[in-house]
Amino acid sequence: MTAIIQLNDIEKSFGALKVLTGVTLDLQDGDISAIIGKSGAGKSVLLKIIVGLLQPDAGEISFGGKSFFSMTRNEIRNFRHRVSYMFQNSALFDAMTIMDNIALPLIERRELKKSVIHEKVLETLAQLDLEGVEDKYPAQLSGGMQKRVALARALITDPEIVLFDEPTTGLDPIRKNIVHGMIAHYQKYFKFTGVVVSHEIPDIFYIAQKVALLAGGKIMAQGAPAEIQTSTDPVVRDFIGIVHPISEEKGTILFWQIKNIAQHGAEKIEELQNAIADLFRQKLPAGTLHVRGDFLFWKMPDTNIKNAQSVCSLLLDAASICLPKGYEGIACTSGYAPFTSEIFSIESEKIPANAVVCGTIDLK
Ligand SMILES: Nc1ncnc2c1ncn2[C@@H]1O[C@H](COP(=O)(O)OP(=O)(O)O)[C@@H](O)[C@H]1O
Ligand SMILES: [Mg+2]
Repeated sequence: MTAIIQLNDIEKSFGALKVLTGVTLDLQDGDISAIIGKSGAGKSVLLKIIVGLLQPDAGEISFGGKSFFSMTRNEIRNFRHRVSYMFQNSALFDAMTIMDNIALPLIERRELKKSVIHEKVLETLAQLDLEGVEDKYPAQLSGGMQKRVALARALITDPEIVLFDEPTTGLDPIRKNIVHGMIAHYQKYFKFTGVVVSHEIPDIFYIAQKVALLAGGKIMAQGAPAEIQTSTDPVVRDFIGIVHPISEEKGTILFWQIKNIAQHGAEKIEELQNAIADLFRQKLPAGTLHVRGDFLFWKMPDTNIKNAQSVCSLLLDAASICLPKGYEGIACTSGYAPFTSEIFSIESEKIPANAVVCGTIDLK
């Protein structure tokens, strides 16, 4: 593994406000790295420094081992072309069609003919399961589709590095889940290096290979998600709170979110868990049930569930047997495993507010 981006002692102030006081961080080629930290910690500033929208006051940035400050103008331009940035809130242009929105980064480069750009946009739309939306306007699409369009725009230039600034802001838990799944899925497919700024703890731990905590202007802790989650460092504990550690074991996890489960009281929760555990024990390879917040996890040592269809239908069965009163729907999110989305590709808008969401996560 090589570091594609190295930050060394980066400092940045705005007037008297010292935002970054010495950020040192290596981002590995081919990974998804998560940068976490409280609001106002300087996460967006850090991303803007990486993409060159802001200049650091001090410190050094290297790309592929070469210091940014020793690069020629041409080298800097070439580097910029390898990086793209997905802004918070999608930032699509309302008055432009989806075609024009996605084509924009290519048009700005003035390298390709219009007809070639047109073809490339259509191809990218197809890769992101967005066929047929090219002539629509952003407001005509669902929130989830808008996120995918924003992702298409970030990916249209075949970037090697994609930076995401709080890609799930403003979304409800179901759509958050879908966006995380989307990033993990397309990162494998397009093979970019991803940097995701997020405050979604612990969700972001499931898609990142590395987590870095920005606090007090510095990276206060970094490591694999499991290391961060089990850290005894008070700064880390203060930020991530008490969460159960993720196991390093290999296997498959089916996860299941029951919104507002706490409202149903401890007894009901236990009853529901027992019902689900019983059902899973009968039908699935040996596993254990874990509960965290409103998520239930069924953890199995089997890393290779071939019959995804039967797993999904089992989850649906389980839902119909043991849903609390008042819950009527179930949906499989695109989750973290592409196969579930093939079976249940449900537009997030159609998921009722009281739905139970389930999906699978492959442990890394
Ligand atoms: N262009 C700017 N001019 C002045 N202050 C800024 C600018 N950009 C960010 N800041 C300040 O820097 C701090 C960190 O901001 P930001 O990186 O956006 O935080 P976050 O971690 O929430 O993304 C905040 O106090 C913000 O007000
Ligand atoms: Mg921010």
